[in-house]
This record gives sequence, C-alpha cells and structure tokens, in this order.
Amino acid sequence: MEIMAVPQGNVALACYPLHKKDPLRAWDAADEYLLRQLHDSGRLAEGEPVLVVNDRFGALSVALAARQQVVMQTDSWLAQRGCLHNLQCNGLAPDRVTLLDSLAQPEGPFCAVLLKIPKSLALLEHQLHQIRPLLADDVLFLAGAMTKHIHRSTLQLFERIIGPSPTSLAVKKARLVLPQFDASLMPGVSPWPRCFMLDDVGLRICNHAGVFSRERLDIGTRFFLDHLPQRVGAADIVDLGCGNGIVGLLARRDNPDARLLFSDESFMALDSARMNWQAAFADAPAEFVADDCLSSHPARSADLVLINPPFHQQHAITSGIAKRMFRDAYRVLRSGGECRIVGNRHLGYQRDLKRIFGSCEVVASNPKFVIHRALR
Ligand SMILES: C[S@@+](CC[C@H](N)C(=O)[O-])C[C@H]1O[C@@H](n2cnc3c(N)ncnc32)[C@H](O)[C@@H]1O
Repeated sequence: MEIMAVPQGNVALACYPLHKKDPLRAWDAADEYLLRQLHDSGRLAEGEPVLVVNDRFGALSVALAARQQVVMQTDSWLAQRGCLHNLQCNGLAPDRVTLLDSLAQPEGPFCAVLLKIPKSLALLEHQLHQIRPLLADDVLFLAGAMTKHIHRSTLQLFERIIGPSPTSLAVKKARLVLPQFDASLMPGVSPWPRCFMLDDVGLRICNHAGVFSRERLDIGTRFFLDHLPQRVGAADIVDLGCGNGIVGLLARRDNPDARLLFSDESFMALDSARMNWQAAFADAPAEFVADDCLSSHPARSADLVLINPPFHQQHAITSGIAKRMFRDAYRVLRSGGECRIVGNRHLGYQRDLKRIFGSCEVVASNPKFVIHRALR
C-alpha cells in the first residue's frame, strides 16, 4: 500500500487484486491533477454530490469520500472491488461511495463530474453521451489522463459531444481537458451498442462500447473458433474472459447439450454476451458472472474452460491476468477436464501452462497464434 498526498488529504491506496509482484501503482499523475484542480476551483461545498467515471482503483472516489457524496461509475468489476478495498484501508464505510456500472445512466444532479479519459475512443464517446445531460446548470466537468493518451481524436470527441474543450498545461506528464458545455450542440444519442453480422457462422454479434474487438471479429478469436472442442456432450463449459461471448456461443452451437457459463470483469462485456446469447438461443439457460477470473467459482465444477486471455491491463502489457486465469481454470476443472487457450505466439503461454497443469500440447498454430490444450 502507498500513500497518495493530495489537497484532500493523505490517501492510502493499493491495487486490486493485491499482488506482491504487481508493477502497477494504484493511481497516476492524472488522478493527482484532477484532485488538485477540483480543490483549487473552490467550487465544491462539503456534502455536494460528485460523479467519478473510470476511477481505476478508487483513488479519486476514496480521496473525495470523506467530504462529498460520491457516485463512482465504471465498467470494471475489479475497479469496484478496488474502491471498496481502499475505502476500508482509509477507515471509510463502503456506503461512502455509490457504485454504478457502465450500463446505467447516472442520475444527477451533480455539482462536479470527474472523468478519467479511457483508452478506448468508443467508450469515451459513449460516456460523453451519458455525461452530457448532467452538465446543464454550470456543472464543473474535469477530464484527465496521461498526456500520451490524449490525442486529437480524443479532443474532437469532447468538442463534438460537449463543447469547446481547451487543455491544461502538462504536469508530471498528465494533462486535463476542461470542456465547456455548449447547450446549442445537437450530438444525438450514443451509437453504442453496435452490431455486425458474422456471415460464415450465421450470427449477428452486438457489442457495447467498452468491449474487446467491438467493430469486427478479432483474428485470434477467429482462429480459436476454428479449433473449439467438438462432441463434448452434456458438459459444463466456461467462457472465461468472454468479451461479447462469441467463443461460448459457438461452443454451445456445436455442443447443444452443454451448459454455459460466461465470466468477465467488464460489465459491458457480460451484457453484450447476454444479448448475443438471447439472440442466438432465446430463453435457453446460461450464467453470466462478473468476477476476477473464476475466483468465486467452485472447485472441480467444470469440464471445459475456454480462454483468449487479455495481455493488457489498462495501458500496461502483462501476463499476470493470463496466469491467474490458467490457475483458476486448473482449480475449477474436474479430473480429466480441459482448458483450451488461444494466444499470440510470442506470449509463450506453454511455459505457464506446463507449470500449472504439468503438461500441455499444441492443438493448432499459424504464424501469429497458437492454440494450447491442457488437461486436469
Ligand atoms: C482478449 S479478450 C477476449 C474476449 C473474447 N473471449 C474473444 O475471444 O473475443 C479478454 C477478455 O478478458 C476480460 N478480462 C480482463 N481481465 C479479467 C479478469 N481479471 N477477470 C475476468 N475477465 C477479465 C476482458 O474484459 C476481455 O473481455
């Protein structure tokens, strides 16, 4: 745990989940800049409500929670747990921050809105549409990110949806965007979720704004779909890190007796998977679980776990989540159960899988991707 020193006080912060070797810090210079700017504006009286969007581990929300009513909106289940953990570390009750997922429209009034600018322009576009109706009546709107993540295209979105958006000077390589609400703009409504047709598999796939590969099928996923297990019968199948659920959908289509569970830490991913499942299989039962990998899933309860692991956490490249997914898959698989994984060739998942499962084999490969199979 480290201390973030900001005008609101000293805040103890840890990443979530906690990992000894985690190279990430629970806040960045953009968080500090947003909190200083909010404080220096002198615009917030004690107890006034603030909306905080995309707070990573609760750094902004926890810093404000002692004096303001805070609503934290995020697409990340892990960010919500991180915020609760950090509230507790600072002796604050969990109800000091109201948690809202990314699918809900925040209901004002708010006196200020703080936005950590997301990496995805699609998510930013959707969130600006959600924020705009909250901004009439002179609400203070501050957005921030590390300078290298604020591009021309980022500012164009602010200007199209909110109004003129000057930027601040850079401080510690962070920058703020200071959008001014223009009531005369008519930006329409969010274009998300969007759908595309996967003609060769005969499915229409819909994606919320924050979902992996939301405009088209990812080429790694495409390769995975060509090598999914067949004839597994009445098996319990887990689509871990399901994104829009395409992997689990095709596994179910090829194995009509199977029971499916979709798991992801992104609320938009889970809801996309749910929409796509309903479109394909109507009322057939399936489970959709927000979780960190499979941490809430019972041991020895699945026959097949399918994984296309993420190798980014926010802007950092990491193999940490993939390894946790493999360990959880091992734990939840029944004896003889299979974990099937697609990965970029250069990521070398084979080493990790051998360490966890004892052995693993290559099912298929092409110049870019490898599909591994490891048995419990
Ligand atoms: C590479 S995408 C794969 C999506 C989909 N399965 C596909 O193949 O198109 C990885 C997914 O893992 C999810 N994810 C990231 N960290 C996670 C975690 N700790 N627990 C569960 N899911 C996670 C991401 O939200 C993302 O949807």
